[in-house]
Amino acid sequence: MNINHDKQVSQQHAGVVERWEKIDNRFYFYGPQTVLEVKVVSDTVLRFRFSALGNFSRDFSYSHAHTYQESIEKLEISEEEEYFSIKTAKIDCEIQKERMLIKILDKKGLVISEDEKGFHWEEHKKYGGEIVFNTRKGQASEHFYGLGDKSADNDIREKRFENWGKDTYAYGKDTDPLYKNIPFFIGLHHKVAYGIFFDNTFRTYFDFGFERKNATSFWADGGEMNYYFIYGPELLNVVETYTNMTGKPELPPLWALGFHQCKWSYYPEKQVREITSEFRTRRIPCDAFYLDIDYMDGFRCFTWHPEHFSNPKGMISDLEKQGFKTVVIIDPGIKIDPNYRIYKEGLEKGYFCKRMDGPLMKGAVWPGECNFPDFTRAEVREWWAGLFDELMDTGVRGVWNDMNEPAVFEIETFPDDVRHDYDGDPCSHRKAHNVYGMQMARATYEGVKKFGHNRRPFVITRSGYSGLQKYSSAWTGDNVASWEHLSIANSQCQRLNVSGVSYCGSDIGGFIGSPSGELFVRWIQLGIFHMFCRVHSSGDHGDQEPWSFGLEVELLTKKFIELRYQLLPYIYTTFYQHVKTGVPTLRPLPFVAQEDSETYNRQDEFCMGDNLLVCPILAEKVDGRWVYLPEGKWYYYWDDKVHEGNQEVWAEAALDRIPLFVKAGAVIPMAPIMQYVGEFDPEQLFLHVYASAEEHTSYLYEDKGDGYEYTQGESSYKTFVTASEKKSYTITQRIDGTYDPVYKSYEIMVHGLSFTPKSCEVDGEKVHMDVINPDKNLIRFDAGKAFAKIVIKG
Ligand code: GLC
Repeated sequence: MNINHDKQVSQQHAGVVERWEKIDNRFYFYGPQTVLEVKVVSDTVLRFRFSALGNFSRDFSYSHAHTYQESIEKLEISEEEEYFSIKTAKIDCEIQKERMLIKILDKKGLVISEDEKGFHWEEHKKYGGEIVFNTRKGQASEHFYGLGDKSADNDIREKRFENWGKDTYAYGKDTDPLYKNIPFFIGLHHKVAYGIFFDNTFRTYFDFGFERKNATSFWADGGEMNYYFIYGPELLNVVETYTNMTGKPELPPLWALGFHQCKWSYYPEKQVREITSEFRTRRIPCDAFYLDIDYMDGFRCFTWHPEHFSNPKGMISDLEKQGFKTVVIIDPGIKIDPNYRIYKEGLEKGYFCKRMDGPLMKGAVWPGECNFPDFTRAEVREWWAGLFDELMDTGVRGVWNDMNEPAVFEIETFPDDVRHDYDGDPCSHRKAHNVYGMQMARATYEGVKKFGHNRRPFVITRSGYSGLQKYSSAWTGDNVASWEHLSIANSQCQRLNVSGVSYCGSDIGGFIGSPSGELFVRWIQLGIFHMFCRVHSSGDHGDQEPWSFGLEVELLTKKFIELRYQLLPYIYTTFYQHVKTGVPTLRPLPFVAQEDSETYNRQDEFCMGDNLLVCPILAEKVDGRWVYLPEGKWYYYWDDKVHEGNQEVWAEAALDRIPLFVKAGAVIPMAPIMQYVGEFDPEQLFLHVYASAEEHTSYLYEDKGDGYEYTQGESSYKTFVTASEKKSYTITQRIDGTYDPVYKSYEIMVHGLSFTPKSCEVDGEKVHMDVINPDKNLIRFDAGKAFAKIVIKG
């Protein structure tokens, strides 16, 4: 559907404000027929609801943004001749009296965002009711980011998008819509950032100067104009606030940050055992092994194929002993089969979605004709969660939700007339489509958690709406084994990260088609820096195990998966920071160097966590590439060469390297190589210190890696400060929390001291130090894990 709304003659605009009132932190402005609600959510967040008909519908959202409220430092309103002005401690919002046009300014008077046409609407020709639009002025040199899993360039200016979750097998660059529905974007101009979250689950549209260069519009096929304005001014502030509003994940079990191997499908049991043993024999670390749809009996969810997996409990328990966690797929389609318990139960209890005129929604997916649970009903979610009892009891440790856009063969998805409960406010599929997958993931999460015996749940989903991150990790769907797709995966994961979904990854190597060994290695090199790190393939085109491409590729793959495991303490800390504050784990370059406009259109480089900068190689047969480094000094991970930022540098990266830089001053905690999380208790943790003239702070979060003791205080957060004086270098450690890690001491490696080190003292006592490389002043020494201060002198 193409709504060229500018050319519609039947459009109407919000009228003159006739009266207004204030109720607590909400302001209502009434027009002849219309009403605008402005709610001050915090000093940086305003919520706008506009009704063309003068009344609002139930205030409910699956995103949960509507329940978010922070304390407000300042809240004032004044009436000027032409407008009202609401002032918070951080922003001013003007509401023009003539047409309710909104203008938001910072305290320096900079216009951050302002309406052009503002709220306007037209009759929905097909369904009746109104379509409400918001059209804003494009600001000078404005850049736009966000919108979830879109496969576009990072900056989405001059583009138009739709959100209507779709099963997009073999999608390409700029295919739209895709699987996820995240109606949230970020604008950046004059070095100041803001975000807009349009919390509407109908099919939503966003236009960033595509139709008219200087206008940004968003609208939906139904429902209310209901959006949140989020002020930064930092890009990262916007993401943090949005993520806090729509919900943060809980800490995953540490194993779920390890390496995962998947294929459609590993079966029967014999093959599962062969492949998993192969990992151990070849000593390639791996924590999670996946069973795709063929583990089921005729693709019936919550069953096991009687011949292929005759003793799932026994198999899973053996895999556990070798350090593998089993993750299984569960789709929403329930096979219509009167002899199938779950079908019978769902039918008897009335849990399946119905068409408008009464019959059940029926559609074909893998098992053939299916009915589909209405996950927007609390009772159905509870039933669904309960179904995991048995599955978890077989030893399954994680669940993979797929096809939940929802996808239906031939007809793509449910017809519009399908009814949903929408948690007590029944509606058609037009309103529920975009949240269906997320409600499925939510019910799954509740089940996996409930029957996980106090272990942390692990769920992965293909579809979702804003806030899906509360329940699940996500992957980017059915991609292709091509170089272009490697680049798409890089952008998609960065984009998901700044859209609240940090726990994400792509099918490494590509789902469709067969990668060359070289492409596979380059993809692994990128994938180990995504929070969700899984190889998956359709299995139709050849094998995609690390050893399927010959010895050279196998050894390189092993090397990078090992690096992932070595970096786990750093990765876990980065995830913890995300859980604590909402800061994304991957940070596109503009998000770490907002003052530097050179970064605004860079899209290959990103930071993972506070101290690592990564830039994948995205082309065939190259030995390196240019990488833009933001301000500061950066060590090249592979040779410790120090580069100045604020410029492009050449990074040597033959197939055995990915351009990877470490921020000078950083302390990078690293673990010994393990074949899986918890394989053995390490004696030592490695701290790699990258010397800098500037003072720098780094962190390390630790806990048991699973279970909930951390919520009762059994965790620790360590703060390392590194500082330099003429011929001395200091590392201090502050430990908050009581968790006592199993390792006994640190092995500390200091890279790049600016002087020849002569002595080293840990808490006042001289310790032995090895000079590993005298040319580079690279030294190593041991220190007790509770040290407070280390001084290295020249
Ligand atoms: C879908 C999924 C894919 C899975 C396949 C079979 O195409 O996206 O990951 O392997 O279904 O279940």
